[in-house]
Amino acid sequence: MKKTELMAKQILVTGGTGYIGSHTVVELQNQGFEVVIVDNLSNSQIEVLDNIEKITGIRPAFEQFDLAERDKTDGFFQKYSNVEAIIHFAAYKAVGESVDKPLEYYRNNLVSLMNLLESMKKYDVKHMVFSSSCTVYGQPETLPVTEQTPRQEAESPYGNTKAICEDIMRDFCKANEALNCIALRYFNPIGAHESTLIGELPVGVPNNLVPFITQTAAGLRKELSIFGDDYDTPDGTAIRDYINVVDLAKAHVVAIDRLLNDKTKQNYEYFNVGTGDGYSVMQLVKSFIKVTGVELNYKVVGRRTGDIEKIWADTSYGNAELGWKAEKTLDETLLSAWKWEKNVRGLS
Ligand code: NAD
Ligand code: UD1
Repeated sequence: MKKTELMAKQILVTGGTGYIGSHTVVELQNQGFEVVIVDNLSNSQIEVLDNIEKITGIRPAFEQFDLAERDKTDGFFQKYSNVEAIIHFAAYKAVGESVDKPLEYYRNNLVSLMNLLESMKKYDVKHMVFSSSCTVYGQPETLPVTEQTPRQEAESPYGNTKAICEDIMRDFCKANEALNCIALRYFNPIGAHESTLIGELPVGVPNNLVPFITQTAAGLRKELSIFGDDYDTPDGTAIRDYINVVDLAKAHVVAIDRLLNDKTKQNYEYFNVGTGDGYSVMQLVKSFIKVTGVELNYKVVGRRTGDIEKIWADTSYGNAELGWKAEKTLDETLLSAWKWEKNVRGLS
């Protein structure tokens, strides 16, 4: 990608003050893209803009509103007529909460996407990258999962919103040939930017493994519970494909490049975004202790309801088509998560 080719293309990043969005804004700005963020700050802080500016030297434009509000979304595109592509991160993402509040999840995640797609048609914005998830595969029968692996019925309303959003995009692209959309199916994003200025800041008790580990190591939690050691895996604990968030952010930049430079094979495409390597919970815990030298209290407890046993990506199709590959090791990624946690907590 030549920097000059990319100048003056304005990219709308929805959810851009969130965890993955903020890292992606940094990578986009590093590549010369002009970014405008829309976020309602329901799960992020406005200070993230200061930190993006500290890292890149550029403060992205920012608009605070709820994308589920049709008239506000319309008003945005009237104001920002230079938007050429959208990266749509904005969504609710807590699996357990979605079971208790299904309508809130369906409304937020589906209506936001539909509003954006309607605006794309109305204001002639042709390109979108959408945040999907490996959750659409459920527990696959064969591993690793390729893009051809059949999707399975979702385990949660959250997971279902991802499957339905993929279908909405597929159908809308079929009906509108001028549109070009890519869904990226993320595996498990972890880690933080090397500057330690941006990272994951879960509200309340973390559900996800790595924030729980770093908060336990920082003394905020008493001990980590390892959910199950009786799975059919080498050490009995569940296996996932953990992808560094900066690598994941870079995948969005190449997806945007593919869309803007007409490299797509169909006007709706989807790719796995993982490392291709599976690690067990126990391997991850041991790696964390090794690379940080920090004590970590943990105990094995029963399985967590709804968890799958093992999943990791076959990334060969995405690597070849996108010209992108995850580069960071698990060890350096875990270290980045720990440095971020220490910075947030003011630990040395
Ligand atoms: P996040 O919660 O950190 O970021 C999402 C951002 O969207 C937040 O800043 C939130 O305030 C904003 N937002 C939510 N609803 C909005 C609305 N209606 N209008 C405007 N802003 C809104 O989440 P994340 O981890 O960065 O995830 C980004 C995307 O990736 C989500 O779509 C998520 O479902 C998907 N995803 C995340 C993971 C993961 O493990 N983090 C895995 C797979 C897929
Ligand atoms: C979960 C969601 C998935 C979502 C992803 C990112 C479920 C079933 N899946 O994935 O849809 O896309 O988060 O938000 O919730 N673990 C522990 N102890 C902990 C926390 C986790 O042992 O305190 C284990 C889990 O059992 C799992 C692994 O660590 O085996 C990873 O868990 P987590 O980080 O929550 O991600 P997923 O469950 O893979």
